[in-house]
Amino acid sequence: MKSLSQWSVIAWVEIQMLDPDKLTFEHHCGGAVIAERLVLSAAHCFDKQPLQLEHIRLVVGEHRLKMQDKHENRFLAEKVVPHPDFRKSGPHSNDIALIVVSRSGHGVQFNSHVRPICLPDATDSAGRWCAVSGWGFQAEGTESFAPVLRAASVPVLDLATCRKSQVLGGRQQPILDSMICAGVLSGGVDACRGDSGGPLACPAGARWQLAGLVSWGAGCARRQRPGVYTRVASYVRWVLDTAASLGHNID
Ligand code: ARG
Repeated sequence: MKSLSQWSVIAWVEIQMLDPDKLTFEHHCGGAVIAERLVLSAAHCFDKQPLQLEHIRLVVGEHRLKMQDKHENRFLAEKVVPHPDFRKSGPHSNDIALIVVSRSGHGVQFNSHVRPICLPDATDSAGRWCAVSGWGFQAEGTESFAPVLRAASVPVLDLATCRKSQVLGGRQQPILDSMICAGVLSGGVDACRGDSGGPLACPAGARWQLAGLVSWGAGCARRQRPGVYTRVASYVRWVLDTAASLGHNID
């Protein structure tokens, strides 16, 4: 993530995964809190099989990646439900996963540092400036995660622009209607590796809506290569139904 600024979106989750060699939990992906015990992230963050739930740790209220922050809280995952039709290729699709936070204590406590983000309504976000955030690489090729949470403002592009051949059209991965492209075409600002699953949050009145989840890109912050996000609005039904089937309701 390039430019840094302050945002009042505070639904961030850092997803850590146990490194089996080092036996330490390492930064893996981002996510967003949508209810006391529910987090949304990208399905591709959980595609290593077999998925061991005890190897996943969810950190909320975090700011500095390697330090214990005052409002930081850690949780285990009770369940991870990747979208049943998630595909890595042919084409890359349905890159969304619902995570149930384990019952230890009361689930995620909301306070001035942790609050859920709203699911989006069906309004098209094209043309809006939204915030992408995470601890991912600060530039393509830098092999280290950002020490503090970074956020950048990016405009949502309309799909026709994104599908132009000089942008992301006619390539290996098609841009589906269930994706959002966001970024400046002159380059320089984007999500990058390690930001996956994190929120693309759009202001909607006095609230923030979770318009997208960081999914993929062609390099990072390159000219004419906007970032590609899972369009959460295409999955609201799936999220609500899956949550309800697990006994969770989202207000
Ligand atoms: N798949 C990447 C990850 O694992 C996210 C890539 C997003 N890239 C981009 N240029 N927007 O973290």
